[in-house]
Amino acid sequence: MSGGDGALVSSAPEAAAQAPPTPLEPTNIQPVDEAAIARAIELLRAGDVVAFPTETVYGLGADAANAGAVAKIFALKGRPELHPVIVHLAAASTLEVWAREVPAGAHKLAQAFWPGPLTLVLKRASGVLDAVTGAQDTVGLRVPAHPAAQALLAALGNGIAAPSANKFGRVSPTTAQHVFADFGLELPLILDGGATSVGIESTIIDFSGERPRCLRPGGVSLGAIEEALGEAVAPPDATAPRAPGSHGVHYAPRATVKLVRRVQVLETMASHKGRRIGVLALEVTVPRLAAPLQRVVPVVPMQYAHELYANLRALDAQNVDLILVEQPPTTPAWTAINDRLARAARHAAEGDTT
Ligand code: TXA
Ligand code: MG
Repeated sequence: MSGGDGALVSSAPEAAAQAPPTPLEPTNIQPVDEAAIARAIELLRAGDVVAFPTETVYGLGADAANAGAVAKIFALKGRPELHPVIVHLAAASTLEVWAREVPAGAHKLAQAFWPGPLTLVLKRASGVLDAVTGAQDTVGLRVPAHPAAQALLAALGNGIAAPSANKFGRVSPTTAQHVFADFGLELPLILDGGATSVGIESTIIDFSGERPRCLRPGGVSLGAIEEALGEAVAPPDATAPRAPGSHGVHYAPRATVKLVRRVQVLETMASHKGRRIGVLALEVTVPRLAAPLQRVVPVVPMQYAHELYANLRALDAQNVDLILVEQPPTTPAWTAINDRLARAARHAAEGDTT
């Protein structure tokens, strides 16, 4: 062995320590086709979990009638127990299997918005697992519109319990690559149906109380819901027992998020010199800021919602310390977007950067 070889060998551990980690091959991502759906059904029947696209965000699904499979979702997400998960159904015709009481208003909304980005919270039928309802007396039900979700539900012939396919407290995924970024190869299969069309989660309307109440604004506007219902919907009740999405730690990127008006963007950047800053701007590019550190979105609520989580994830991936979000309008069309932005910013204001 020559001296040169010896030198090579002795420097190898150092070189290994400095080399960036090899990116994982996303071998568990499969485009949606017949074979991928068949594989997903095999996994679901075997009590495993599968990530799949819906029109809102990607879901992390398990057979809703299999407690062990639902428990896997919680373990994978790092989600506290007793947080209810939405059960996805193929059609409204199976509502009564899951809910013991379906008020006329709930039927009206199901007819108007299913399949689509609406979740109904109803009194649960006997037999619905505690693992799904968080041991509450209600169950969240949704008929998703995405063809891949529809194909899965039709082939399984049962409900699919699925929260958003992100690690607990993180930004929801709107692409298969986002799911992979959070879970890597921990999931046996991520069905890739491209970017989701709506981009934010479903609107949740609770029909288990005296009058319908909105628990989470989302893909269907409250105006449209009230029009279909023919009555006003109560706003979220801070004392109501509900979980994850209602807490500040949700929908948050790793970086601190601050909502600012346009005139404050440059000023805030100047006052945070030395920190790596990303900006989510409206319509107009921010001067003197490198392109990867800013995302510019039109002031069009549907398009803004469609791109919101991808934009937050992209800025986060630039390892910024601070994301300045230019405050969008506060008109009703922006309610769900402002809800998610406020949660992301509250996370930072509470000083919780875990
Ligand atoms: O668009 C969506 O709703 C997506 C896709 C995958 O369907 N799902 C989703 O799931 O956002 P998740 O678990 O990330 O958020 C569902 C929210 C949680 O805040 C949960 O507490 C609430 O719905 N929820 C579910 N069942 C409930 C129930 N029975 N009572 C009150 N809240 C409920
Ligand atoms: Mg979620």
